Formats: sequence, C-alpha cells, structure tokens
Amino acid sequence: MGKILVGGDVCLKGEIPVQGSKNAALPIMAGAVLHKGCTVLHNCPRISDVYNMEKMLINLGAKIHWEGHTLIIDCSRICEIAVEEGLSGRMRSSVMLMGSMLGRCGRVQIGYPGGCVIGKRPIDYHLDLFADMGVNIDREGQQLILSCNGLRGVCHRFPRPSVGATENGILAAVHAEEPVVLENCAREPEIGYLCAFLRCMGADIDGDGTDRICIGGGSRLHDGEYTIPADRIAAGTLLLSGAITRGQVNLAGAPRRDMDELLKVYEKMGGQFSWNGGTLLTDSRHVKKSVGRIVTDVYPGFPTDLQSPLMAVCCTLEGESRIRETIFEDRFRAAGQLARMGARIVTAGDEALVKGPVRLTGRTVRAQDLRGGAALVVAGLAARGQTVVECQEYIERGYESFYEEINLLGGRIVKMDSEA
Ligand code: EPZ
Repeated sequence: MGKILVGGDVCLKGEIPVQGSKNAALPIMAGAVLHKGCTVLHNCPRISDVYNMEKMLINLGAKIHWEGHTLIIDCSRICEIAVEEGLSGRMRSSVMLMGSMLGRCGRVQIGYPGGCVIGKRPIDYHLDLFADMGVNIDREGQQLILSCNGLRGVCHRFPRPSVGATENGILAAVHAEEPVVLENCAREPEIGYLCAFLRCMGADIDGDGTDRICIGGGSRLHDGEYTIPADRIAAGTLLLSGAITRGQVNLAGAPRRDMDELLKVYEKMGGQFSWNGGTLLTDSRHVKKSVGRIVTDVYPGFPTDLQSPLMAVCCTLEGESRIRETIFEDRFRAAGQLARMGARIVTAGDEALVKGPVRLTGRTVRAQDLRGGAALVVAGLAARGQTVVECQEYIERGYESFYEEINLLGGRIVKMDSEA
C-alpha cells in the first residue's frame, strides 16, 4: 500500500480545470457493449476505476485504445460472456455490465461487485428488476449467471431511488423487446449523462432527471461520440480544499447545474462565489461559521460523496455542525482518522456531531475508502505539520490528479513509493 505526504498550513490559490466524471464514465463505458460498433468518449478521466472497466471490456472482446483523454471503444466483437473473476470485485460499477451484456448477448457471468466499503451495498434492486424482465439468475459460488431469451418490456418500480439500479435498468431496457418504464428512479446527473450518451447512439429514452424513465426498447444503435461532463464530486472536493485553507480556488468547467446544494452549504460557512462563464470562482477568506445541520440525500439533496470532505472542513469551523448520512450505513469511517488529527467528532448511528474550531495536527492516518481518503488530504492541508495518508490507492480510484492539482494551487503533496 502506498502513501502520500501532505504539507499543512497551506492557503490554496489559483485555477484548475475539473476532470471528467468518474460516475458518468463508468456506466457509459459499460453501455458501449450495447452497440456492435465504435464508441468515442472524450474527456474520460484516467483513473484506476476506468482502467479496471477497460480491462473488463477487453476481457469480453472489446478493442480499446486511448488518445489523450479520448477513449475509443470498439465492441464489434463480444466473444466472451464471463467477466474475468477478480475484476468485478474491484469496484461497484462492474454491476453495470449485467444490464449491457443482457441487452447485447442475453447472457453474462459475473462476480458480485466490489467498491468502497461504506455499507452493505446489496444488488437486490438490480436483480429484482432483471427477474421482472424475464432474466434467469443462477448462482455458482461467488459467480452470478444471468440469462434470458429476450428482455421483457415491463413497468417496474424500485423500492427506493438507486443510482446503479436505475442505470442498470436503462442499459438492459435499450434492447428490450418492448418499452420499459422505470419508476421511483434516482435523479442524479450521471443518469442523465448516461441517457444523453445512449440517445447520441440512437436509443429512445425519455424522463431522465425525473423519477419516471421510459425506454423505447428494441433500439438499433449506431456509432457515437460523447464528451464526459465534468465531475461534480471532484469539483466539490477541490472547492472544499480551498475552503479549509481559506484560499481562493477557481474551477474551470465546473458543472454549474450540479453544484447548487454544495454552494448553499459553502455560503453558510461564509464562502463567497461567482461564475465567470464556465468557471466557478470561490473565495474562502471569510469561511468561519459552522454549517449547522446537513443531511445527505438523493439528488438534488446534498451528495453523500461530499459528506466526508465536508466533515473535514467542519472541524475547522466555529461551533457545532451536525451531519446526518442517510444513503449509506457506514460512511463515517473518516471520522476516526480525523480524530487522530485532533478533530472533535462524535458519531452515533447515522449522525455525526463535529465541534470546532480545532487546530488539526498532522498525523499518520489511513484511507479506508475513496471519499474518506480525499477527506484526510483535505484535513492535512490545514493541519499543523505534515500528514501521512496511507493506502492512497483508494483516492486514485476516483481522482485523476488530485495531488498535482493541490500542488498547482500552492499545496505540498509528495507521493511515496509503496516500498518506501
Ligand atoms: C452510486 O453508487 C455511486 N457510484 C456512489 O459513488 C454514490 O455514493 C451513490 O451512487 C449514491 O449517490 C457510482 O456511480 C459508481 P445506490 P450506487 O444504488 O449505485 C442501497 C463514489 O464515491 N441499495 O444509489 O452503489 C445501497 O446500499 C461512489 O464515487 C440497495 O439496498 O448507489 C445504498 O444504501 C461511492 N440495493 C442506497 O441503496 C440495491 O440493489 C443507494 O445506493 C442497490 C442499492
């Protein structure tokens, strides 16, 4: 496991372009399987989760190559129905290959997905939908074998909004024999991006962004080209890095429509922002006040993926901040590591009480998931002395060049080789 050294007491200033969205790129890459031809994805983030999805697609028979941040995927030939064991368990998004492979071949063998350990993260909503669409689901050890003779058109209501299950349903429905209506869908922007991509390939989809999505079924797809939109979570993490250091960070290409909830919280703490065309200008010199009570929620609520980085900032704010995590059962793991740095955080069930301001102290801490790891870097920027963040590989799953970006803004992050 590698580690990074994070210099403290910095004040970040400058402008950074926002990377392409991890949580848009991954389901879209899985969606390329639906088309017996070529898909070109621009602004694709070069992160380990994308490389893992690339490996799985190649393993199934796709031909893939990069040209800078453009990913060219040729799925003319899919000659394998089994996803290589050990790959699917590396991340959550491998589950998307169920919907696209069922649509393409009517059959797929795949292990249970992995992903950040932030809760149980079952896939019952996905499997219940597939069963509703006429898919047989067999289990062989840790492997799932899904098969069907065509996908039935259905009207299916999810028990609760699920980003992945909504995306998987859309992927499976594109080639269903009859129209599919999905109800109680998640409304995250990444679902809209997946639908925009599929529409540019010829799919017939309406309703994305609402809780009811209709997919025409039986779509004949054609070659397509799509630009992955900016990553709202990466943008939010950089904004919060500026906030904790009381700096002035500008985010070029930040996804304007997807940042409202975070910007409301940012203003509550005293942050000031404006837009200059497509660039978000932030000024954190007056960041001081606690944010009061924050509740994570499905979109358009406060994003659970920014809960840990926000918690780090709350440690440095005056007063009590209460954070309630309603999406995942075990997403306060960063709190224990922040406490090692002197943070005053008490967690009980789905609530965390953060008391501040505290002068954090650099310590050796350990990343345990992607966003929790990012939160430790954010905290290290404001800490006294140096913070060593171990297991930084978690961070590299979702952030393409987080350390370099922080250093360009005036930070001092050094990556140590794993054997060091
Ligand atoms: C996606 O995960 C994102 N990952 C997550 O981002 C994000 O936190 C999450 O959506 C919520 O916004 C990707 O897009 C790759 P869900 P997903 O299905 O699809 C329960 C990051 O850091 N549930 O909306 O797995 C589930 O346990 C990652 O980038 C079931 O019970 O999230 C959770 O409590 C972390 N059964 C809730 O629903 C199911 O079949 C929401 O999960 C599916 C989900």
